[in-house]
Amino acid sequence: MRKAVVAANWKMNGDIQLLNEFAPIQWGNDKVEAIFALPSILLPWAKFGQLAGQDVSAFASGAHTGEISATMLKNAGCSYVILGHSERRTDHHEDEALLIEKWKQAKAVGLKIIYCIGESLEEYEQNRTQEALLRQLNPILDTDLIDEETVIAYEPVWAIGTGKTATAEYAQKIHQEIRKIICKKSDTISARLRILYGGSVKADNAKELFSGEDIDGFLVGGASLKADSFKQIIEAIS
Ligand code: PGA
Repeated sequence: MRKAVVAANWKMNGDIQLLNEFAPIQWGNDKVEAIFALPSILLPWAKFGQLAGQDVSAFASGAHTGEISATMLKNAGCSYVILGHSERRTDHHEDEALLIEKWKQAKAVGLKIIYCIGESLEEYEQNRTQEALLRQLNPILDTDLIDEETVIAYEPVWAIGTGKTATAEYAQKIHQEIRKIICKKSDTISARLRILYGGSVKADNAKELFSGEDIDGFLVGGASLKADSFKQIIEAIS
């Protein structure tokens, strides 16, 4: 049985006041694991849920101005780190070769990975989703980095922050394809790892999306910035 995960991605949002709104609430329960990917500078102040970095350096330490190392995330209380979010892939030109280096750093200190994949609007319109998934997954599967604790976040780029959500049928179909691709590496890993859907998830579409048998939870951006709406998403699938 895979335990559901709902992960908040605050992106470059939030402050101490928002942390104070989230702090008194009991996040997560016996059915759902709640994870909070916060801006690095807020992590040491967050005293709730499980914490995640939104990115990590590909280096262990040294002259890399502005970077945050895996050890620093660990010391700030993180158990997870997001890698390959589409905004990092686009804004910072992150490719699979770089993400593998980041993954190695994170894994070396025991951080679990939330690896984001998903097709662009252009790829979606040209029926090239499978090609995008293979491009983002194959280099990872050629290494020994993926394991049962890896979390995959499938986020069609055209659904992120746009209010356009994939239908439950489409999301389930893609999640099933992702599991099939990971079977090339290991049937056991493929069956046990959690695959989250992300892209305009809200309290009112969470339950339907969660009905797909390969959908193990969500990575939530906009709706994770209010304690009420984020709590409702967790409750909708509990
Ligand atoms: P969204 O963002 O929920 O605002 O669409 C999801 C994400 O980018 O992780």
